[in-house]
This record gives sequence, C-alpha cells and structure tokens, in this order.
Amino acid sequence: MRVLITGATGAIGSALADTLLARGDEVVGLTRDPAKARPKNPTVSWHAWQATTERPPEEALENVDAVVNLIGEEINQRLTDSAKRRIRESRITASHNLLQGIEASDTTPKVFVGSSAIGYYGDRGESMLDEDSQPGDGFMADIPVEWEAEQRGAESLGMRLVLVRTGLVLSSESGLLKQLLPPFKMGVGGPLGSGDQYMSWIHLDDEVGLIVWALDDDRVSGVINATAPNPVTNKEFSKALGKAIGRPAILPTPKAAVALLRGNELAELVTGSARVIPRRAQDLGYSFRYPDLDPALRDLLVS
Ligand SMILES: NC(=O)c1ccc[n+]([C@@H]2O[C@H](COP(=O)([O-])OP(=O)(O)OC[C@H]3O[C@@H](n4cnc5c(N)ncnc54)[C@H](OP(=O)(O)O)[C@@H]3O)[C@@H](O)[C@H]2O)c1
Repeated sequence: MRVLITGATGAIGSALADTLLARGDEVVGLTRDPAKARPKNPTVSWHAWQATTERPPEEALENVDAVVNLIGEEINQRLTDSAKRRIRESRITASHNLLQGIEASDTTPKVFVGSSAIGYYGDRGESMLDEDSQPGDGFMADIPVEWEAEQRGAESLGMRLVLVRTGLVLSSESGLLKQLLPPFKMGVGGPLGSGDQYMSWIHLDDEVGLIVWALDDDRVSGVINATAPNPVTNKEFSKALGKAIGRPAILPTPKAAVALLRGNELAELVTGSARVIPRRAQDLGYSFRYPDLDPALRDLLVS
C-alpha cells in the first residue's frame, strides 16, 4: 500500500511511518521542510507542502492508496491570538487544502484517516464519554468540531473516512510525559488542581496500531476514540507515574498556577476532565496492547 502522511515528521506520524515501512508499505511524507525531514527518515519519499497556503503537490498524490492526516500546530503553548490562529489554520485550512488537492488529482485514495482530539468532549467530570457523546464548549472543543467537519469532505470525494479522536498520547520522547517528567524526577511532581479530573491516555503503540487497523479494515469508518479502555484520574496518573520512576507524587499543583504558566484554555485541558471510552474500536474487535496504565508507563519509562 502507498500511504501519504501529512505531519509525517511529528511524534505520531514518524512512528506510523516506521511501522508502515517495516511491513513493506511505501510512505510519502508531506512536510514544510523536506531537507530537515529527509536525513531523519531517508526511506520516506518527502515532498514540500506549505499546508496553510496551498494544495499539496500533484506528484505527491500520484497512485496513493491511503491518506493519514496528522498535521497540526503544537497545542501546548501559550494560547495567544496568533497561536490560536496557527492552531486553527494548521488543522482546518490545511485539511481543506489537502482535500482540494485530492479532488483536483487523478488519484482518489481508497481511505482517508483524519485526525481529531478528545478536546471535542470538553470538561465533563465523571461521565463516561463515547463516540456518540455531544461536544463540549470552548476553543479546545470548537477546533475538533470544525476540524472533523472539514475532513468529512473526504466522504463526498468517494473515500472511506475514519476520524481518529485522539487522547493524551504517551510516548517516551514527546508530548505529555516529556512535560510531566522533570518535576516528578525532582520529587516535586504531583496531581494538577483537584486531581479528580479524568485523563484519557493512550500508549503511542496503540495510537499507531489503531491507525494501521483503520487503514487495513474496511469495516472501520466514522469516528473512533483513540484512548485506552481504562482512563484514570489525574491523582491515579500521578501516583502511577511516581511509581514507574521510583518517586512518590505528593505535591498538588493548583489550577491557578497552571493557568498562569500556560494560558487559560490549556489549563482547562489539563485540569478539565474527560473520561473517554474507545467503544467503537472495542466493539469492532481492536485488541489494545496497553489497556492499563502501569504496564504502559513501565514500557515507556523503565528500560
Ligand atoms: N500527541 C497527542 O497527544 C495528540 C492528542 C490529540 C490529538 N493529536 C493530534 O494528532 C496530530 C499529530 O500529533 P503529533 O503529536 O504527532 O503532533 P506533532 O509531533 O506536533 O507533529 C505535527 C506535525 O504538524 C506539522 N505542523 C506543526 N505546526 C504546523 C503549522 N503551523 N503549519 C503547518 N504544519 C505544521 C509539523 O510538520 P513539519 O514541521 O514537518 O511541517 C509537525 O511535525 C496533530 O494534529 C495533533 O493535534 C495529538
């Protein structure tokens, strides 16, 4: 299979590219800077794409069987107006340009795996949330709602569409763990805010596993939550993280301090609660490699 990946230099995109290449697929990668991307993974066929201002190059789309859309400006930054604009454009405008490029091309891929995020659900306390739950409020919920709506255009172009609503991805090199580990290693990490809020996490291997499964299995379409079957509270997460690195998690970080550091919307995201269940993946028979947090953290943090 020839798979086009946008955001192929990112944490999820590069792990996905490695997995596909290892099983014999061809990978076409789109990036703003091929010269930087190429040395890191020379087996990918790289093409330059300024995603927010143009369609992808025609030659990148030639004979592509599947598209995985993983582009997106980093969320974890101070959420100024210009950061919000970049976050929005790199998801919604970029998806629009991508689909316009596919429409204009001679190739119609069979499947389009698009991205979304569990920010969709907003701050929802202890309620169990599945793919049919209603969206929440605020910037972090509005972006996934618009992003999903834009990517739904893939269906009208005749592609099977899967929208992956991703949770907090745990990997040893990036994302949440990279942010949380330094204070924990210094012995000052602990629950954020009340610690009662739910964190719907997923091991990077399962994030990639779900995308590959969505590419391969024609029964998969529509929204799938990419979260482990057992979300935990922030208190439980902090305890498990402290245990995995041999440091107890004792000092709570108040919500106000998180807000001061990062900007209010992000504080909502890390102190807000979303207890998300991967109902559709489980119903369709996807088998999670890491359903529970302790083994996931051990795999990532204990060498
Ligand atoms: N990781 C998570 O916990 C998580 C959770 C929920 C949803 N997601 C979503 O899943 C997707 C992939 O996540 P990831 O963690 O792999 O992301 P990532 O490591 O931050 O990589 C995203 C890629 O998007 C491109 N990009 C970033 N800012 C851009 C901009 N302003 N304009 C154009 N391109 C830009 C970059 O590619 P180049 O620099 O090569 O152009 C980058 O490699 C993202 O859309 C993210 O929102 C991730």
